[in-house]
Amino acid sequence: MNKPIDAALLQPAEAFTDYLKNTAARIDKVAEAKAQEDGARVGISRPHESAHLHVAGEATYIDDIPELAGTLHCALGLSPVANGRLTSVSLDAIRAMPGVVDVLTANDIPGTNDCGSIVHDDPILCAIEKHDDGSSWGDIRYIGQPVFAVIAETRDAARRAAARAKDALIIEAVPPVLTPQDAHARGQYVVPPIHVIRETNDGGARGAIDRAPHKLKATLDVGGQEQFYLEGQISYAIPKEGGAMHVYCSTQHPSEMQHLVAHALHLHANEVHVECRRMGGGFGGKESQSAIFACVASVAAHKLQRPVKLRLDRDDDFMITGRRHCFWYEYEVGYDDEGRVLGVEITMVSRAGHSADLSGPVMTRALCHFDNAYWLPDVAMHGFSGKTNTQSNTAFRGFGGPQGAIAIENILDTVARKLERDPLDVRRINFYGKTENNVTPYKQVVTDNIIHELVAQLEESSDYRARRAEIAGFNLKSEVLKRGIALAPLKFGISFNVKHFNQAGALVHVYTDGSILVNHGGTEMGQGLNTKVAQVVAHELGVNCESVRATATDTTKVANTSATAASTGADLNGKAAQDAARQIRERLAVCAAARHGGDAKDVRFANDKVEVNGRTLSFATVVGEAYLDRVQLWSDGFYATPGLSWDKEKMEGRPFFYFAYGAAVSEVIVDTLTGEWKLLRADILHDAGRSLNPAIDIGQIEGAFIQGMGWLTTEELVWHPQSGKLTTHAPSTYKIPTANDCPPVFNVKLFEGDNFEDSIHRSKAVGEPPLLLPFSVFFAIRDAVSAVADHKVDPPLRSPATSEAILAAITAVQA
Ligand code: MTE
Ligand code: HPA
Ligand code: MOS
Repeated sequence: MNKPIDAALLQPAEAFTDYLKNTAARIDKVAEAKAQEDGARVGISRPHESAHLHVAGEATYIDDIPELAGTLHCALGLSPVANGRLTSVSLDAIRAMPGVVDVLTANDIPGTNDCGSIVHDDPILCAIEKHDDGSSWGDIRYIGQPVFAVIAETRDAARRAAARAKDALIIEAVPPVLTPQDAHARGQYVVPPIHVIRETNDGGARGAIDRAPHKLKATLDVGGQEQFYLEGQISYAIPKEGGAMHVYCSTQHPSEMQHLVAHALHLHANEVHVECRRMGGGFGGKESQSAIFACVASVAAHKLQRPVKLRLDRDDDFMITGRRHCFWYEYEVGYDDEGRVLGVEITMVSRAGHSADLSGPVMTRALCHFDNAYWLPDVAMHGFSGKTNTQSNTAFRGFGGPQGAIAIENILDTVARKLERDPLDVRRINFYGKTENNVTPYKQVVTDNIIHELVAQLEESSDYRARRAEIAGFNLKSEVLKRGIALAPLKFGISFNVKHFNQAGALVHVYTDGSILVNHGGTEMGQGLNTKVAQVVAHELGVNCESVRATATDTTKVANTSATAASTGADLNGKAAQDAARQIRERLAVCAAARHGGDAKDVRFANDKVEVNGRTLSFATVVGEAYLDRVQLWSDGFYATPGLSWDKEKMEGRPFFYFAYGAAVSEVIVDTLTGEWKLLRADILHDAGRSLNPAIDIGQIEGAFIQGMGWLTTEELVWHPQSGKLTTHAPSTYKIPTANDCPPVFNVKLFEGDNFEDSIHRSKAVGEPPLLLPFSVFFAIRDAVSAVADHKVDPPLRSPATSEAILAAITAVQA
């Protein structure tokens, strides 16, 4: 570990060189250099604060923390049955295996056997309990459910012993419920159904559909997605004096881990310390689902009074944890001759898995994103979170938003084909208006609509019309290979859809040498949050970014933090850190004016210098003087997003502070004999408001685009229809995109325009919204497939559009 690596290895692969040059060209370096000279530390492209550590292999992830003497390792014994009753657990043989120190069951949990984030329906380990009829059994809910935990001297020994679960468990099996449709047919849900109804005309959606000149009724299937963070789930628990616990956990939500560990150990929150310097990716998968591992490691460390590490193997990670919900939709839409949607009724059923986890809020976000960028006058939406015998599904980049929006996009794409119109024209005619037709189904008024100008710019810069004509000519002459193109717009609501999560705290320390430390409630998962927050602090105090260091997220520094999620990390923590830094700056100004004369209001901080009463001093000098004058050189900061409201009963209010917008044009070529395809070119124009860091934002947009493309094309999850076993539980069978899937032409640009709202330096959240951009890839594939029958037949293409699915759609179109 930590050996410097050969510089040659750091050279990008040849195919990437041009692409990287393009990235550099997309950033206006001259303008940024000028801004920086003028003292700006935001709005400039800074490298990720850990970039050099990442590439050198020196960044410390949880498994890189040197292990304390006496550290034990944990592996989980998993249920081999998807649905049934656990009647007996015999662990003697496992206890006797080499290296095994202990085997824990639910009986070893001193506190509550639950790690559910909202609903308390998530046992840490399956417990055999007495039931009302006098019988005793444990509720087995899915293949991969943890039943016991082996603690051994080595990880290998723990895993070998845990693998014996099959022989240790006696389970009375019943057939599993696996699909959302099956759960829906049985009326079995993890949370009550959610309805969003908006009626502007007589008879609401039903009346509007009945009166419409055209109607369409269909179903759609969209698959789930594995987060596939590079660093798998891991927790390292270290017992402390007086029964306290210190947990290093790869998590997006240290405060929730703290509370769940405290409950499991029957401790107070002030006795549990959770820390996370960085994650090797989270993507939503570590928002709630890091909990079971934090709890098991802590329970073991507590019982044995030795440090315990629980690091999952990739296959176990797939088998135990949930992912993006797959959705099944059934809809009916009424529209006019131009493709204007007049009324739509839709039922969405998700595969929630065995417990609630975040499925309720995910469904709410799905329903609140069905409108995407479109005004839907009359709509009735019904969301059901189907309870199935599968892993409990959870947050994944977009948090239901992509699943909601793809349904309306699919509808509009079909409407366009039925009317033989360009899908872009049908999309555009349905866009929200600027001053009218601008109320969402949940009654938030869209006041910051920029979709018209954004799409117009992209239409032109991507040469959409000319390329469509050229592609039509190509397809006429090409029998086997068909090309397709599509433009997909997006609007994404920013804020947690649970109001009280929209708050954050920060702590800024200025040391007497002028160096600065910032700590905030957000977590770093590669998205560049620490870089952005450090920039905000540097900007506020007028120092160079190099002077500001961000430290590990730590529940003993900032309390009661929200998950770093909903793309709000920089919005919330940036504002909190700005608040802290501003207080220190104001104190410094008062102190400097007292010493050197002039008005505190006129003291200027920029470029590591302080101008006071005509004199220029170094920042460190002013700080040193302030220390001697006994001025407090550290401060906390706080922020709560203003203006939010939500009525859960009526499903209306203002859940979002603002909306982020974007659009993409993708062009594909499909081999109609094999179903293979390639993305030839993608053009993206995305709205990050006044970007805090264009390089990082462009990286987020590119990453989200490719990740979303994987969701919609190659990443297929298959549960065995009888046993219910997830058969795609490793990269050998589950195909995420690789660097080679980047299109050879990839034009990513930031839309120029400030956030209308007073967000941190007028920037916009960027983490999740661009995941919707690759809808354009999916619809370009549909376009190419429909070319097979001269665009007369709407292709019944499911998602993921694997080659197999594409071939099936081609066959259907030809029939
Ligand atoms: N980018 C990287 N590199 N790794 C990640 O795990 N998670 C995404 C997004 N971008 C993620 C990422 C998700 S799901 C969210 S909600 C946001 O980052 C969270 O960070 P932010 O709020 O600071 O943008
Ligand atoms: N996004 C992510 N996590 C959440 C949300 C959300 O909107 N609401 C509750 N948890
Ligand atoms: Mo992101 S799915 O909100 O962690």
